[in-house]
Parts: sequence; C-alpha cells; structure tokens
Amino acid sequence: MIQLIDKLVKNQMLSTEEFLNLLENLDESSKAYLVEQSVKVRKENYGDKVYMRGLVEISSYCKQNCIYCGIRFGNEKAERYRLTEDQIMSACDEGYRLGYRTYVLQGGEDDYFTDERVVDLVKMIKGKYPDTRITLSLGERSRESYQKYYDAGADRYLLRHETASRELYRKIHPMMSYDNRLECLKILKEIGFQVGAGFMVGIPGQELSDLVKDLELLKELKPHMVGIGPFIPHKDTPFKNFESGTLELTETMLAIIRLILPDVLLPATTSLGSLDPKGRERGLKAGANVVMPNLSPTEVREKYALYDGKICTGDEAAHCRRCIEGRINSAGYQVDMSVGDNKNWER
Ligand code: SAM
Ligand code: FES
Repeated sequence: MIQLIDKLVKNQMLSTEEFLNLLENLDESSKAYLVEQSVKVRKENYGDKVYMRGLVEISSYCKQNCIYCGIRFGNEKAERYRLTEDQIMSACDEGYRLGYRTYVLQGGEDDYFTDERVVDLVKMIKGKYPDTRITLSLGERSRESYQKYYDAGADRYLLRHETASRELYRKIHPMMSYDNRLECLKILKEIGFQVGAGFMVGIPGQELSDLVKDLELLKELKPHMVGIGPFIPHKDTPFKNFESGTLELTETMLAIIRLILPDVLLPATTSLGSLDPKGRERGLKAGANVVMPNLSPTEVREKYALYDGKICTGDEAAHCRRCIEGRINSAGYQVDMSVGDNKNWER
C-alpha cells in the first residue's frame, strides 16, 4: 500500500487496477499515510490557507428530477422559493461586510432565471463590488447562455458531473444526458470560466470501480475546482431508505483528488459537515482547502433542503462566519478572505 501511495504521489495518477487495489485494501495505517501525503501537497500549494466562499441559494425551483435530490421536480412536498434581486444583493452586501470576496449563486434549474436576469444579477454584483468573484451553479444551459454570463463578469461555474459511471448516471438522472453534462463542462472551460466538476460518494448502487472512473474523469478534465460530498438521503425522494455515504470514504477520495490534481480548489462541503459534526474539519485535514458558508436569508434556508439534516439552516451569516473560522483554526488552518483563484487561471 505504501509503495502504491508513493507511486500516486510521484506520478499524480495510478492505473485503474491500482486505484481499485488502493480503495479496496486501504487499512487504517495506510490511510493515515495517504492523508499525510495529501496534506503535504496541499501545504506546498496553498500553505495553511482556507478560502471562504459565501453561498447564496437563489432558488429551490427545479425542472430536473434527480432521484437523490430533495428539491427534485417530482417532490411535491418541497417548499419552493426564489430570491428577489434585492434579497440576493442584500445577501452579497452582508457577505461583503463579513469579508467574503466570492459569492456563489446556486439554485435548482429554474427557467425564471433567464439569461437576462442572470446577466443583470452578475452585472449588479460586479458593478457594486468589482473586487470580488462570482461563481454560478445553475445547472445545464447552452453555450450562448454561459458565454453571456462570462461576458457579464461571472468568473467560475460549478457543475458536478455527479458520477462518471454512465450507467449509474442514467439511473439517477431520469431526464438527463451524461454526454450533455460533460459537454457543458467542456464548453464552460473553453469559454474561460474556472470550472468545478465533482461527484457524490456513496450514491446507492455506486461501486468502488465507479469512484475510480470519477478519478479518471477528473484527471482528464483537469477542473480548477472539485466539489465532492457524501450522498445523504432525503425523506421525500425515492432514495429515502438508503444509507448515506461515509465520512471515511469521502476523506479518502479528498486525499486522492489532492494528489492527482495538486493545485485544485477543493471544498470541505456542507454535506460532509451535515454527515458528521466534525466533517468539515476532517475534510480540511484530508486535503480540502475551501469552505462555503451560507449567506442565504435565514427564512428560506430550510427550503433549500437537498438532503435531510442539512446544517446551518437556522444560523445567521455572521454566526456561520465566526463558527467556520473557529472550525478552520481548530483544524490547524487559517482563514483567507481573498478571492482565492486557482493558481492557473487568468481571465
Ligand atoms: N442545479 C445545479 C446543478 O445541477 O449543478 C446546482 C444545484 S444542485 C442541488 C447542487 C448539488 O447538490 C448537486 O451537484 C448534488 O451533487 C448535490 N446534492 C443533491 N442532492 C444531494 C443529496 N441527497 N446528498 C448529497 N448531495 C446532494
Ligand atoms: Fe453555519 Fe457553523 S458554518 S453554523
């Protein structure tokens, strides 16, 4: 195992069989070694900095029907809301006061947010705060739409590929196409965005060999950011009776991703924090270097329920800001409030 991990560090990649061997046979002491190597690489690239992103959940309307997701179209019990332009601006204002210099506008695939509305939002925020970065995470759109957002001033786009297994992708995304998802990622990169791909760990039906495919896809795509987190069931979805992904396997995947993409921006996600009270700290200690505290107005937070037990739904933005700083420090890292671009990106 140790030899295999050394090879991974050296080559920043392993073969399919070697990855599978690693995932199947990693025991406690070899996992500790893997994580140690990941932290070393993370420190070489980013020191002890953790970048902060303010997350604004702009809409819980969604036209897609992803089997696992609490705000899927088919969930009639989901409470729907969309933020007004004023609410979004107030969330960014509050974020700016608290020191955030990146705003992540995320939502379900909601046609209310037309290109014109998205462009207006981006221009409004960038007009007021030119020293910030805007990340969009609004799902699949056309090349023309993505280009308009980039031209308006959006800098980054998060679109997890969710799983690199075609078969599993088809099962959990009834109305969607894997090829189109990948095409969107390719287009976003061509346009010039800092792009975030990523996947869930522990999706019902997912095998370790599927996770190897995720690693291979990431290595090929070379995204600037990778968002991974455990699958967690939501009570009003077809996956309600399945187990969550585990913290341990998520840590392992974070550590391997850090080793195959040394300078990637890698969040310790809210889902990891929701799975375990120390989940985000454990993610940081396994190689993650980004956190995304919530800036959404408290009155809507519970409605953006992607899975059960989501943390921070009752907390004010200022509370989260303090809380997360404490967690980062306790994990042995330092908050960095700069825009925190990927080292290899320039507009
Ligand atoms: N609509 C946009 C998209 O498709 O990229 C962004 C919103 S989507 C709700 C954000 C992410 O939530 C997805 O990429 C997915 O990985 C994650 N997610 C949804 N349901 C989840 C669940 N039950 N457990 C863990 N993560 C989940
Ligand atoms: Fe929101 Fe800790 S980050 S309460």
